[in-house]
Amino acid sequence: MGKRVPFVCGNWKMHHGVEATRKQVRALVEGLPRLKGMVDLAIAPVATTLAAACEAARGSGLKIAAQNVHWAEKGAFTGEWSAAHLVELGVTHAICGHSERRALFGDDDITVPKRVRAAMDAGLVPIGCVGETLAQREAGKTEHVVATQTEAILEVIKPDEIDRLVLAYEPVWAIGTGKNATPTQAQEVHAQIRRLLAKRFGAKAELVRLQYGGSVKPDNAAELLREPDVDGALVGGAALEAASLLAIAEAGLQRA
Ligand code: PGA
Repeated sequence: MGKRVPFVCGNWKMHHGVEATRKQVRALVEGLPRLKGMVDLAIAPVATTLAAACEAARGSGLKIAAQNVHWAEKGAFTGEWSAAHLVELGVTHAICGHSERRALFGDDDITVPKRVRAAMDAGLVPIGCVGETLAQREAGKTEHVVATQTEAILEVIKPDEIDRLVLAYEPVWAIGTGKNATPTQAQEVHAQIRRLLAKRFGAKAELVRLQYGGSVKPDNAAELLREPDVDGALVGGAALEAASLLAIAEAGLQRA
């Protein structure tokens, strides 16, 4: 360990307007020294607050992520935004294919890789999300579902940029339910993803950071991040308050 910098990202989903975003970003910036420069921390706020978030975080080291990105540079795509629009604001990361996008807004293994590709092309760090539903897990299909979603993303990645990719394993049954995957369950799938990476990219697979997401909280972050292939966390509910997100990120210090 030690070669992958732990990476925690708070996904604020559709919470926090501009004022709340500024307030939370200021608190995160204030707490950032606790991470001693050894854990990367990002937040993905609501799109309408991205400019304010970037401004409040400027120069601090706190990274700002978008929750989505379209694959086209521009055009007739009402309700979407391009990677260039994000770069213009100072956004550095983009979540691609979150399970809520897949379940509610039609994202799939065709569109998610396109979003990842567009993020890469613009110099953003894509956070590609994969994960099975409860029905799929109970039917013994976890490995198949994760492999299919992961392979679709890896298909569009070139060997010389693989170190920039972040993948988040988020079992759908663990998201927002308070029922996190056990460290063993998370590690099992992360190890599978690492093997898929290694098959395609050889030793470079070791450079890719794999986040776990799904009911991560300050009191379970340390045990999850203790697993060898759990390099960070994608956090929803417990990321809304700066103190809680910082506590989760501090759990990453044990890996640094
Ligand atoms: P949760 O959400 O931490 O609230 O379970 C995780 C996510 O959706 O990224």
